[in-house]
Amino acid sequence: MVTEEKVTLTNERVKVIFGDLLDSLRQLIIKDRITESEYRALIEFVSEMGRLEYEVPLWFDVFLGVTVDNVTYDHYNQMAGTPSNILGPFYLEGAPVRSPPYRLGRDNEPGDVLFVSGSVLDAKTGAPIPGALLDIWQTSGNGLYDHLDPDQPDFNMRGKFLTDQEGRFEFRTVIPQPYEIPKDGPTGRLLAMLGHHAWRPKHIHFKISRDSYLPLTTQVYFEGDPWLHDDLVEGAPKPELVTRLEKHDSHKEIESKGLDRPFFTARFDFRLVPATS
Ligand code: DHB
Ligand code: FE
Repeated sequence: MVTEEKVTLTNERVKVIFGDLLDSLRQLIIKDRITESEYRALIEFVSEMGRLEYEVPLWFDVFLGVTVDNVTYDHYNQMAGTPSNILGPFYLEGAPVRSPPYRLGRDNEPGDVLFVSGSVLDAKTGAPIPGALLDIWQTSGNGLYDHLDPDQPDFNMRGKFLTDQEGRFEFRTVIPQPYEIPKDGPTGRLLAMLGHHAWRPKHIHFKISRDSYLPLTTQVYFEGDPWLHDDLVEGAPKPELVTRLEKHDSHKEIESKGLDRPFFTARFDFRLVPATS
């Protein structure tokens, strides 16, 4: 089931989950012969994560997010909807509802201009869905999320858009850049000890909703990205979520967009599963 609504963890669920968690951890201690000093090092690691603002969600999402996403959206993914994808640690509530023509970033936003367009469709009938809400967020052209970058205004690369009467959307943005998680925090140091890099391929996050449809959280990736087949978040870039960046550099096309430099386009259609399925 898709459970996007606020979930309260009942005592019954806590009993089951916490009991299983303790069982697994005790077995692990025995299997790997974890000693008192290793155990104290682990406690210090977790304590340090707790003292830093984004480390706990980051660690959980890097290592466990994909599995939770697959369980949460199992039903959705079986109903031929667009595959779901991890929410990730950097979603913010309350992004501004923008007015058309839709756009993310400042007037002079650094980076390659990108127009993303597509349709939101009914997964069962293929009919377009007008008035669907797209809540979008991405890194800017410098590979940073706005709330962690003092040089970007609040909500710079975030916004809410609606599909038009034909279920279509288009927005202007800049090509996001691959994201490297901080290397000096506990998660970054752990990855270094594991001999693993800390990169995610470039991606745009989407939360899509409309009355009488099950909500969808997903990400769109781009062909040719060096990290696409080696994502820090293993298994996140599902092949169906990869689209192509098309470059437009003819004088005529550039002029038609009122630009002074080449730009890129990408297309992606989303299929929402009806709530009654
Ligand atoms: C993670 C997810 C993201 O979308 C991102 O940009 C960075 C990290 C994560 O799952 O940890
Ligand atoms: Fe992300």
